[in-house]
Amino acid sequence: MSFKDSKVAIIGVGNVGATTAYSIINQGLCEEVVLIDVNKDKAYAEALDMAHSVYFMNRNIKIYAGDYKDCSDADVVIITASAPMPKDSHSRLEMLAPGMNIMKSIVTSVMDSGFDGIILVISNPVDIMTYYAWKISGLPYRQVIGSGTNLDSARLCCELAKLYDLDAKSVSAFVCGEHGDSEFVVWNSATIGGKKIDDVFSDNAPRTGNTTKPGLLKMTSQAGWEIFNRKGNTCYGIAASATSIVKSILFNENQIYPVSVNVDGAYGLSGVFLSVPTIIDKTGAKEIVEIKLQPDEEEALMNSAHVLQSFYKELQ
Ligand code: LAC
Repeated sequence: MSFKDSKVAIIGVGNVGATTAYSIINQGLCEEVVLIDVNKDKAYAEALDMAHSVYFMNRNIKIYAGDYKDCSDADVVIITASAPMPKDSHSRLEMLAPGMNIMKSIVTSVMDSGFDGIILVISNPVDIMTYYAWKISGLPYRQVIGSGTNLDSARLCCELAKLYDLDAKSVSAFVCGEHGDSEFVVWNSATIGGKKIDDVFSDNAPRTGNTTKPGLLKMTSQAGWEIFNRKGNTCYGIAASATSIVKSILFNENQIYPVSVNVDGAYGLSGVFLSVPTIIDKTGAKEIVEIKLQPDEEEALMNSAHVLQSFYKELQ
C-alpha cells in the first residue's frame, strides 16, 4: 500500500508566512508543513516553536524548516516573501519593482525542485506577482492562484454583518478585480440571507443609516492600510484567507472564492490575472464563475485589468 502525505511548503516566514503556517496546522489541513526562508535561523525557530504547539492540536503534523528541494513533493507551495513595504507607502503596486527579483528567484528554485503542485501567491502586488509566478513557472494556468480579493470580500462581509448584527458568513458579497485601489464590489449579486442587498438596505433603513455602497467599498479597500499604518503589517486576515484557499485545494472542496486567476475569455478579458469568483478544487483553479455584471461593474473590471496589465511590460 502506498500513501502520500499531504504537504504544504511556505516560502517566506515573516509575519504572513508564520501566521499562515500556524493557521494551517491549527486547522489540521495536511500531514507536513515545511518552512523556507533566506533567514534559516528564523525558519528553524518558527518551525520549532510551532512543532511544540502541535501537542495541543487535533492532528499530528510534522513541521520543520527546510530547503527548496523540499518543494519537490509538496501539494501546495505558498509564496509570501516580498520586499518590505516602504513605511510611507500608499499602494501595493509600489512593491513590484523591489519584489520582482525575489519572486523570480523563488519560483525558479521551486520549479528546479521538480515541483508540480499548486502555487498560491500572497506576495504583493499579488495580482501582478501571480501573473509573474505563472510566467516563470511554466505551470498550467489553473496551478497558479493568487490570494487576490478573497480577504477584501471577507472584510466587506464583516462590515455588512456588523451593520445588521449578523454572522458575516450569512453575507454573500464578492469584491473583484485588483487587490488594491481599483477593486470593486459586485453589488448586484450581493445578498444577506438570500435577500438582495438593495432590499436589505431599504428595509432596514434605520440600521443602514448613512452607510453607502461607495463608503463600504472605500472602507474595504482601505482596511489593509488601517492595519498596516498602525502595526506595520497585516497577517491574521490574509493568513486565514490563504488557509481557506489551501483547504479547498487539499480537501477538494470545490469552494467558490474570489481569487486571482488567469482570466482569458471570461468577462470579455484576455490574459490578465485578477480576482473573479473561481471554483477551487484539488487541481487548483478549476473554473471561473461568470456573474452578470452591471455596466459600471464591467467598467470597473476593465479598469482593474488595464491597471494591472500596464505593469506586465516591466516584468523580466
Ligand atoms: C492585506 C494585505 C495582504 O490587504 O495586502 O491585508
